[in-house]
Amino acid sequence: MTAAFDALTRADMEDARIRPGLAVRRRLLDAMGWLTTPLLPDDYLGLVNALWSSRELRGRVEEVRPETADAATIVIRPGRGWAGHRAGQYVRVGVDIDGVRHWRSYSLSSPPQRADGRITITVKATVEGLVSPYLVRRVRPGVILRLVPAEGEFVLPDEPPARLLFVTAGSGITPVAAMLHGLVARREMPDVVLVHSARAPEEVIFGAQLRTTAARLPSLRLYERHTRTDGRITMAQLRDTCPDWRQRHVWACGPTGMLDDAERHWRRAGLADRLHVERFRSATASGFRAGGRVRFLASGRQADADGATPLLVVGENAGVLMPSGCRMGICYSCVARLRSGRVRDLRTGREHGDEGVLIQTCVSAAAGAVDIDL
Ligand SMILES: Cc1cc2nc3c(=O)[nH]c(=O)nc-3n(C[C@H](O)[C@H](O)[C@H](O)COP(=O)(O)OP(=O)(O)OC[C@H]3O[C@@H](n4cnc5c(N)ncnc54)[C@H](O)[C@@H]3O)c2cc1C
Ligand code: FES
Repeated sequence: MTAAFDALTRADMEDARIRPGLAVRRRLLDAMGWLTTPLLPDDYLGLVNALWSSRELRGRVEEVRPETADAATIVIRPGRGWAGHRAGQYVRVGVDIDGVRHWRSYSLSSPPQRADGRITITVKATVEGLVSPYLVRRVRPGVILRLVPAEGEFVLPDEPPARLLFVTAGSGITPVAAMLHGLVARREMPDVVLVHSARAPEEVIFGAQLRTTAARLPSLRLYERHTRTDGRITMAQLRDTCPDWRQRHVWACGPTGMLDDAERHWRRAGLADRLHVERFRSATASGFRAGGRVRFLASGRQADADGATPLLVVGENAGVLMPSGCRMGICYSCVARLRSGRVRDLRTGREHGDEGVLIQTCVSAAAGAVDIDL
């Protein structure tokens, strides 16, 4: 408790320069220890300042900066317990919308250890999406978000390779933007090629910053592909834009089709170990349609599901409180026990149905009638 409080007070001193008030607050906290029993002072502090809670990692939205017509950067002050991040990692964000908490993952677009201690995520509103349009258009400064400490393997090694290639599209620029910040801050910037696709120049997230940085730094070459006029880039076309692509280590982030293409391309070249991919959506097997009635036993709800919709989405649409995290089969936050029936793994198309087994609802669809313990 004391160590954690010390960490908080240090951060406060840097952020808000409130040094004179701190000693008083610390003495107050000690005194409150016995006054508040059986609850901890922390419970009360969480009520006074939402960011002080040590039971739940939170962040306060401090600014919303529009980036393009459908994307915005959310500036967040993380609360007590935020342990920092590496450029390229993502954070799971819990957002309360109309009284229901939804969890989504967002790459951190800010470099680690910003001087002001704040972090940013940059969100593109997905058509018919739930959380992303809320974050881009409705969230306001002051709103409290839930956070889970940063995670993810899509990071550069401590000593980056001498030649790098980034292949990104749309909001896939976000983790790479954090990496570029870090590289630019280094004295010896490696030789970097960034091939980025967006529908039009005005839809390039961080377009102005990227162009300015590339104009100033000869070691950063930026190729923009505007798909509305030029069509989607294929990896075979990389030979023209980046003739030495074989010699480069590659970090790629963007839509499923582009990443599938990249994986095939580097595999065929025998260079799969040079390619690092971050997917915002899971790669799903297609062509399976037969579903069935899904019963959520603990909540007493049921719904008809097709054979392609994740049980997570089926449950959410039926009003069941479904736990979730990455929503793409990575984090296992969504597991539930299968009581009867068969489910299909949407990534592989494989069916399975052992009673009592734990299934990941975000990547499992009904393959007939299904009962699950939720
Ligand atoms: C590791 C990781 C990092 C991510 N980083 C970012 C980021 O930096 N910026 C960002 O904007 N998003 C990012 N995402 C995607 C983000 O987590 C959400 O999936 C996205 O914002 C859509 O959420 P939603 O609630 O609006 O849509 P939902 O309500 O979940 O989905 C609504 C509809 O949109 C479709 N859909 C869902 N996700 C996507 C998607 N990613 N692209 C296109 N269609 C989709 C669904 O199939 C559905 O039809 C990341 C995802 C992961 C796993
Ligand atoms: S939500 Fe992460 S594995 Fe299902």
